Amino acid sequence: MIRKFALAAALTVVAGAASAQDCTAITVEDAFDLDESQINVLYDCLQEKMATGYAKEGDEIGTNYRSWAPTASRPAVAGPHGNRLLNTYANDVAAEQYLKFEEEGVEMPVGSILAKESITVSIKKKAARPGPLFIMTKVGLDEAPDTAGWLYAGLQPNGKVMKVKQSFCHDCHAGWEDQDFLGYPVEEVRLGQ
Ligand code: HEC
Repeated sequence: MIRKFALAAALTVVAGAASAQDCTAITVEDAFDLDESQINVLYDCLQEKMATGYAKEGDEIGTNYRSWAPTASRPAVAGPHGNRLLNTYANDVAAEQYLKFEEEGVEMPVGSILAKESITVSIKKKAARPGPLFIMTKVGLDEAPDTAGWLYAGLQPNGKVMKVKQSFCHDCHAGWEDQDFLGYPVEEVRLGQ
């Protein structure tokens, strides 16, 4: 038993070293076919690069979101957001309510921020790479009357601010009015309170 374990560990180390360059390679034909272990490998491989990239231009959210509450056990594909792998963090103001994943009568407090990392999965190039950090900030109805009090934003993987059309984001998020316009991570990865 002990020998077998040692061998397995040695093989893992070798495999890890050999695949340092191509740890973002994918073999599936469809992003939905990535299994949990493949996703964990991709995330392990990319997460430092992602966090460093989002922080590169000194954006406050891009620099700090990693110290916020994680809301999922790992990134997952929901479909919208370009079939990317998505992983959301909630700031202090948002975390308590968000992590209940309530479906009715939700009203997030003003000051809530959700920042969602994304990994772009290119089936054509057979590789994954960092995607944008998608951001929603609850600013209240006075400041954002057309989008139910939410401000939508994004950072590119290099930390530069993305141009975001509020109506483009909100038209889709409007489908979750009872959840204060939040889509929530797919159920199997949600972290409870
Ligand atoms: C076609 C539908 C669609 C569009 C367009 C869309 N989203 Fe989303 N968004 C979703 C879904 C579905 C989720 C929840 C899935 C997940 O996070 O795994 C989500 C989740 C989010 C979250 C995490 C908070 C939450 O809702 O639980 C943020 C932040 C976010 N989107 C920002 C944006 C921004 C910024 C834009 C515009 C650039 C945008 N979204 C456009 C469907 C959409």
